[in-house]
Amino acid sequence: MRMYDLIMKKKHGGTLTDTEIRFLVNGYTKDEIPDYQMSAFLMAVCFHGMNEAETLSLTMAMAESGELLDLSAIHGKKADKHSTGGVGDKTSLILGPMVASLGVPVAKMSGRGLGHTGGTIDKLESFPGFSVSISNQTFIDNVNRMKLAIMGQTADLAPADKKLYALRDVTATVDQLSLIAGSIMSKKLAAGADVIVLDVKAGSGAFMKTYEDARALAETMVKIGNGAGRKTYAVISDMNQPLGYAVGNILEVKEAIEALNGRAPEDLSDACMALASYMLLGAGRVKEIAEARELLAETIRSGKALTKFAEFVKAQGGDERFVYEPDRFSKASLTGEVKAQTDGFISAMNTEEIGLTSLLLGGGRETKESEIDLTVGIVFKKKIGAKVQKGDTIAVLHANDREKLSAAASRLQKAITIGQTPVTPIPHILGVVEQA
Ligand code: URA
Repeated sequence: MRMYDLIMKKKHGGTLTDTEIRFLVNGYTKDEIPDYQMSAFLMAVCFHGMNEAETLSLTMAMAESGELLDLSAIHGKKADKHSTGGVGDKTSLILGPMVASLGVPVAKMSGRGLGHTGGTIDKLESFPGFSVSISNQTFIDNVNRMKLAIMGQTADLAPADKKLYALRDVTATVDQLSLIAGSIMSKKLAAGADVIVLDVKAGSGAFMKTYEDARALAETMVKIGNGAGRKTYAVISDMNQPLGYAVGNILEVKEAIEALNGRAPEDLSDACMALASYMLLGAGRVKEIAEARELLAETIRSGKALTKFAEFVKAQGGDERFVYEPDRFSKASLTGEVKAQTDGFISAMNTEEIGLTSLLLGGGRETKESEIDLTVGIVFKKKIGAKVQKGDTIAVLHANDREKLSAAASRLQKAITIGQTPVTPIPHILGVVEQA
């Protein structure tokens, strides 16, 4: 088999066999196929696409290119949740303990934030002592003992995707549906859960800017997951404004703790309820979504989810006193306000810009090696649909550097649009894909 022939086949719109796809993924991972040939192939995929079978083969080949986490020692059906990346998304911190406190094992592999979106691991590391660098054995033991563990992605998880993603990033071949779906699902399949619930974001802060694109991605990923024998669902959610009010690591952890105490903003609560319900349904803990919602609401009312969160933080080395006394968290030294410049209604929030503003304050990584400042970020007072008067505070910025604070304030001001006509707030959950 020659890579040249496979490039030619795809260039003419042909369909590759499973053997051919495995040949090129394995060859590229082992450095037997050079970047220039793989780049040409990826571009041909951008022009001609891949069908369902090809997409599944690509995903499986990438998943099997490294370690496949064996979670068979965990009792019961293990659930995982994955978001395609959002701003202010702290759902994992809330729904993990909610689902675990109902006896469903949550075995989650998470990533760090990169670009304008935040990552669960950085948020968890806000707890002094907390570690996600736990061994596979500790991960399994913790899930068996208390139904919840979160570990960082290991270097050997889907290495083919890692190499291909880096190449896509520099050859303008990231935004192709099969390539994105395969990339995300290869890591999820390798991470071993039986139930995968995907949160596919749509809007100005998301990878997929429109509902239609998000839905197509969601359907493709659900097909891959089910095709690989995992119960897979996708929730499509709005990312035209940040989720909840807080953006930035410690600020988001505090909002998550508030949510576990029963004081979640509506959109955040809707997101957690929708995603967690499908985790329970997929694991067979409930027969219907309505039953799941009742049980989940009770985990908050009874305080069981909060206690589970504290137990989880402690088990991974963190100081659980911070869960009960969030004032213990460090604070940024400076604050500044962004105010309404005119009377009206908030009609749009450029959410990618909001994520980048938090990054500018030091809350995210510009490169993989960047150190992040856990204390900085933004707390919104108003979101889309809110009526404002000139001078009302829309957001409070938390910073440790005066210059960055002032640059961030003017950037954030530009990201918020105030219109003259009333605006209906956007529902957070836009759709669900149960079966593709
Ligand atoms: N996230 C991934 O992991 N891969 C993609 O291709 C896009 C987003």
